[in-house]
Amino acid sequence: MAYRHATERQDYSDYARGRVLYGQHGHPAYPVRLASEIWQRCTAVLREEERPGPYVLYDPCCGGAYLLTTLCLLHRPEIAAAIGSDVDAGVLDTARRNLALLSVEGMERRIGEVRALHQAYGKRSHAASVESAQRLRERLLDARGAEIETRAFVADATDPCALKEGLTGLQIDVLIADLPYGRDSQWKRLQEDGSSSCSPQIQMLDALLAVVSPHTVVALSADKAARLAHPAYRRLERFRLGKRQVTLLRSPAH
Ligand SMILES: C[S@@+](CC[C@H](N)C(=O)[O-])C[C@H]1O[C@@H](n2cnc3c(N)ncnc32)[C@H](O)[C@@H]1O
Repeated sequence: MAYRHATERQDYSDYARGRVLYGQHGHPAYPVRLASEIWQRCTAVLREEERPGPYVLYDPCCGGAYLLTTLCLLHRPEIAAAIGSDVDAGVLDTARRNLALLSVEGMERRIGEVRALHQAYGKRSHAASVESAQRLRERLLDARGAEIETRAFVADATDPCALKEGLTGLQIDVLIADLPYGRDSQWKRLQEDGSSSCSPQIQMLDALLAVVSPHTVVALSADKAARLAHPAYRRLERFRLGKRQVTLLRSPAH
């Protein structure tokens, strides 16, 4: 896959998991450059249709909101709201702490935390965290406009009622999710639906019909073997990078 937007290989170490952003045990961090490329491909579709943003971004499998928070820090002026949900209530504390870093005040609190760690232990990694957090704070100050609205709630992404309730009052422009696959993240269900023979991905796409609009661009990152075709969605594009595939979809009418 050739990068179309994030064409320059940059130093993304300020976004490294655990440095400033909080890590979620057992979840590897999503590649930052790829995340940025996905965001830019989604917003290019909207901009071509003269929808200039700022946009509402939603991740229905948000985990610790590392992906959401990274995207907002990188593309701050383009984002009006960052919303995450996950079936696992245990990860939402990390998600909320990460989303809190999207305000200058939140980032300043984090600078205080990592500075205290540096004073207590004198480690080089803590000094690097302070420097990264200060750079991220500058980015937030440069982009200062309206605050980003943030929300994190528990929902099984295959449950349309839970999604609808959590997203009350919001129209999603861009939905980006790194779907569960592999050893570190599995699909979980709040209630087993023994009647469905469809994969969880397809059940999630069914459920999302309750909350996406015809203009929402849906970008799903998954294992390259996953099947992400659904009759109610049109595929805009699909690309592969290593063990991942990314599919951009839209539900023109439902
Ligand atoms: C690959 S991780 C996503 C990591 C996340 N993007 C981040 O930045 O931290 C997949 C997530 O999907 C969640 N998940 C699993 N089954 C789910 C379901 N039925 N509905 C919603 N989330 C689910 C897992 O709890 C896990 O947090």
